[in-house]
Amino acid sequence: MVGMDDKHNLAIIVGSVREGRFGPVVSSWVADQARAHGGFDVNVVDLAQVEIPLALPAAPPKFAGDGYLRPDGMAALTSALEAADAFIVVTPEYNHSYPASLKAAIDWHFTQWTAKPVAFVSYGGAAGGRHAVLHLENVLTELHAVTIRDGLAFPNYFTAWQDGRPLDAEASGYAKTLLDQLAWWAGVLRSARETAPYPA
Ligand SMILES: Cc1cc2nc3c(=O)[nH]c(=O)nc-3n(C[C@H](O)[C@H](O)[C@H](O)COP(=O)(O)O)c2cc1C
Repeated sequence: MVGMDDKHNLAIIVGSVREGRFGPVVSSWVADQARAHGGFDVNVVDLAQVEIPLALPAAPPKFAGDGYLRPDGMAALTSALEAADAFIVVTPEYNHSYPASLKAAIDWHFTQWTAKPVAFVSYGGAAGGRHAVLHLENVLTELHAVTIRDGLAFPNYFTAWQDGRPLDAEASGYAKTLLDQLAWWAGVLRSARETAPYPA
């Protein structure tokens, strides 16, 4: 049984891999918020550091289990996903959705997401990356992940951030709400996974 004071393993996934990307600015602020929250051991997973081929093996990872053959350069990502009790996906919006790097990273895995909570922090133009999050919620449901309601969205991030942090004074408070909800789900689902295998 997971105790109230137990820390949860949190993987913060930096979704964009674009040259000159803004993603690391957002994710390092999110990581600071998560460390300050106190409920998590924080691991920032940068997809730009991961080998993620588009060509997949013949069988889907859902059925292949532990024997699924992945590239050596993906091992750190797979271990981080395995070890995580909770995720925050930091995503920009590309053409009303999320970047291909994130989709490829998701598609190489399956059970690593199952019965675990996922929160989203997005950024972009006028919509603040909300289209990306709507698509991610849909996709991650297929992997039996539990997406949480409260997310953070940063519209027009190019004017809304300065010196590595959002100008909106409320942002830290919104992050705290997100992290409180994520910690609650992480504890509940971790206990449930330890009690009985999820019937996927
Ligand atoms: C291929 C591409 C498509 C984009 N499409 C959108 C979009 O549909 N909506 C939006 O708000 N911003 C869009 N943008 C702008 C991005 O939100 C902005 O470039 C942001 O910095 C991308 O995050 P990154 O710097 O971490 O890659 C797009 C950017 C790229 C590169």
